[in-house]
Amino acid sequence: MNAPELITDPAAWQARCFAARDGGARLALVPTMGFLHDGHLSLLRAARARADEGGRRGLAVASIFVNPTQFGAGEDLSRYPRDLQGDLAKCAAAGIDWVLAPADPRAVFPPDFQTWVTVEGVSQGLCGASRPGHFRGVATVVAKLFNLTRPHVALFGEKDYQQLAVIRAMVRDLAMNVEVVGMPIVREPDGLARSSRNVYLSPEERGRALALSRALREAAELAGGGERDAASLRARARARLEDAGARVDYVEIVHPDSLAPVPRADPGCVMLVAAQVGATRLIDNLRLP
Ligand code: PAF
Repeated sequence: MNAPELITDPAAWQARCFAARDGGARLALVPTMGFLHDGHLSLLRAARARADEGGRRGLAVASIFVNPTQFGAGEDLSRYPRDLQGDLAKCAAAGIDWVLAPADPRAVFPPDFQTWVTVEGVSQGLCGASRPGHFRGVATVVAKLFNLTRPHVALFGEKDYQQLAVIRAMVRDLAMNVEVVGMPIVREPDGLARSSRNVYLSPEERGRALALSRALREAAELAGGGERDAASLRARARARLEDAGARVDYVEIVHPDSLAPVPRADPGCVMLVAAQVGATRLIDNLRLP
């Protein structure tokens, strides 16, 4: 278990990645904001495997950067959890070769930074409605990380379902030469989706937060049993969340690619929920059977 090499300077990182790629290495990138949990670990391990495809050892790399441009005013940027040493140990355990962790956000977004990537359709609605500017910040930093790394493949978690759709749209529309891989949500044994923000929850709130995954599971069972009316499924899920004292941001059932709301919850549609439990905003989603 070798410690990954820590690189803090984006320009040095870019030079190293480009030289590796020019030398024939296959690069797999996992962009993260750190405070890594088991969901990230599944991405990191998959990156190791994807880098080594073809029988030659490639480069599995990760970035750890709390991107200020994807946080709105009043959101949790200043208290976002950080643990670089713990993250490096987890990257080592997953076989990651290099980690980019800029010490200062100005290394990525200098004061004269003025170029933004805005993905339109799939950024609208859902989290895009309650977090204005969030996906512009995500798309811009991911585009920059792609330009700094030139990975063959990049891996993201499906928990951030809308984020994944935004990144896929950006890559397709701007003809970026990178394969985007979505990895399944990793859950705690009781169903709670793993998230760096779970650390904010008190034990009592953590219990109430289970309402998100339970509401989704119940909707999936009802849909599987023949209830295909999206409005009834949404109403039932909303009631379950409210019963648990969660403040519902949205409960939606959408087409898996366009993210357009659907009136019928046909197989393959995705149900997404966002709700505030105490001071913590949580999201979760499930593909309906
Ligand atoms: O999912 C995240 O952790 C972030 O949104 C990402 C993709 C690393 C961009 O900052």
